[in-house]
Amino acid sequence: MFNIVVIASGNGSNFQAVIDAIDSGLINARIIKLISDNERANALNRARSSGIETVIINGKDSNFYPILNDILLSINPDLIVLDGFMKIMPDYIVNEFLYKMINIHPSLLPAFGGRGFYGIKVHRSVIRSGARFSGCTIHFVTSDVDNGPIIEQRVVEVNDDDDEYTLSEKIHEEEHRALVSSIALLISGRYRISGKRVLRLY
Ligand code: GAR
Repeated sequence: MFNIVVIASGNGSNFQAVIDAIDSGLINARIIKLISDNERANALNRARSSGIETVIINGKDSNFYPILNDILLSINPDLIVLDGFMKIMPDYIVNEFLYKMINIHPSLLPAFGGRGFYGIKVHRSVIRSGARFSGCTIHFVTSDVDNGPIIEQRVVEVNDDDDEYTLSEKIHEEEHRALVSSIALLISGRYRISGKRVLRLY
């Protein structure tokens, strides 16, 4: 079985999309733990409703990363999904799980990415920039923040009457689809990483 760990700081709608895809048989995997740095994260409620084990590590604990690393090493999952994880993963954890950790980013990277670009701030910057298109990116996590090999992107049009909230809503819908299909690709093993490209193998 393909074992997944999800790390989430907030609502966890992407986490829910993976739960639903597993339940409906769309992907053949198991989520073995939901880890959160925020005891009030709604993702924790979603996990509890689905019988998925939860772990809360206080995000302000100076040992946050060593504790997280120990947990991940003890599980040794096939895949770690960062869902709205609002911290920067340190290099030693990234390198320990290189190409086994993916992130969802709410823009078409490399635009509107990097330190300081997260959540609603990204959508606000997109609207202000005048860009007519935005979207989402699913990518492998590397030590270069938001710059790892891109697995999948989906495009959303920015309309005149969009604000950061309506744009966020539209992009969330695409994120859910992109995340599930990216995980399906990773489970299938039908890809090859070449530099920053994730090439499909047929
Ligand atoms: C998603 O839009 C994701 O792209 C973003 O947080 C949201 C989490 O939504 N991630 C980042 O900004 C990371 N830099 P969710 O909790 O409803 O799944």
